[in-house]
Amino acid sequence: MNVLVIGRGGREHALCWKLRQSPLVEALYCAPGNVGIAAVADIVDVMERDFAHIVAFAQEKHIDLVVVGPEDPLFAGLVDVLTQAGIRAFGPTKAAAALEGSKQFAKQLMGEHHIPTAAYAVFSTYSEALTYVRTQSFPLVIKADGLAAGKGVTIAQSLEEATHTLHALMVERLLGEAGDQVVVEQFLQGEEVSILCFVDGDTVYPMPAVQDHKTIYDDDQGPNTGGMGTYSPVPQLGAAAYEEAIKTIVQPVVRAMQVRGIPFRGVLFAGLMVTPAGQPMVIEFNCRFGDPETQVVLMRLQSDLFPLLWGTATGTLHEVAPPVWTEEAAVCVVLASRGYPATATKGDVITGLETVDEAVVFHAGTAYDAQGQVVTNGGRVLGVTAVAPTLEQARQKVYARIPHIAFTGKQFRQDIGRKARR
Ligand code: AMP
Ligand code: GLY
Repeated sequence: MNVLVIGRGGREHALCWKLRQSPLVEALYCAPGNVGIAAVADIVDVMERDFAHIVAFAQEKHIDLVVVGPEDPLFAGLVDVLTQAGIRAFGPTKAAAALEGSKQFAKQLMGEHHIPTAAYAVFSTYSEALTYVRTQSFPLVIKADGLAAGKGVTIAQSLEEATHTLHALMVERLLGEAGDQVVVEQFLQGEEVSILCFVDGDTVYPMPAVQDHKTIYDDDQGPNTGGMGTYSPVPQLGAAAYEEAIKTIVQPVVRAMQVRGIPFRGVLFAGLMVTPAGQPMVIEFNCRFGDPETQVVLMRLQSDLFPLLWGTATGTLHEVAPPVWTEEAAVCVVLASRGYPATATKGDVITGLETVDEAVVFHAGTAYDAQGQVVTNGGRVLGVTAVAPTLEQARQKVYARIPHIAFTGKQFRQDIGRKARR
């Protein structure tokens, strides 16, 4: 099979790294890729949003499956465009991607199907939103509907902060159109955990639970990022809560999408809060593999990835054996560039990548400079990832490797996986 992966992050490096191990994959391409991906796939100089060139390349190279990594091209309908051109693609259609792309769509669907999530209300005018928040207790969560690149969520601790946030979104329109509609929801307490599932429209194959670390600094301090590190399994999520999440959340959503005539095919990523009482509730859905969730999950996957992607994309997942996961634990720690998340520095030389040990270094924001040196090229630069019999051992492997990798302003969290209770 000839496979084309779309994207340029650590998630896409992990996908290519795993696909490269498949005896079924002959040619493997990635557009636009990065320095690390170039070691396992042929790099194609085409951007994620350049649909015309993606289609032309797929036709020219007889691509059997295009695997779309990031949400942005999914929201813009890349899977629809490829399908219309007769090219098989992994990922939801534009309509089904609304599960992530429109918080309001997701909330309505959950409401109709009694899927546990925070109580919410939607507003399209500042004055209505303000009247409502005056009747609420705090903290209160305020989210811009639509895409806001991670900047769309505020946890307001007071009426003053809520007023300020609503004004910024709806009057000053700091996030543009994303602030046309605003969702105000109840603050959920508990343990945040993610469950990613292969979904072919009908059949669901869940992956093991993962925990991400969203803020830039240790102990969940500082501004939110795309994710600074992950680990799996998540021992504090019991088997009962995991099963409940699949039964009360994932399966009803998959059925609801079928009923609406927009079956979901791809990775359904449920971002959950497990309440102190042990009930999983939905924070958000994503319509794709997570980054850096994918790095740890794929390191625990013992099965061939290709048949799972193929079965998902073609609606034949039930014909593919369910995935097998190692009992071992995996940890991924992200190394970010200076200034992240406010800015993303480019061009700092990275050394120490050639060190050989058992950790895998997935590349995200890396590029070659004019002298052929590997340099930083974005906010999240590398994801150092390892598997070991226990989480503590996996942590040790990763943290032993990190000091050997150097670049100016390297930032990383020291506490990835530390919250795991054993
Ligand atoms: P989202 O973009 O919806 O994933 O929200 C970003 C982050 O805000 C989540 O990862 C949570 O940490 C936090 N968050 C969002 N919604 C809630 C909620 N209802 N209660 C508590 N925390 C939330
Ligand atoms: N790490 C969070 C995400 O991929 O959405």
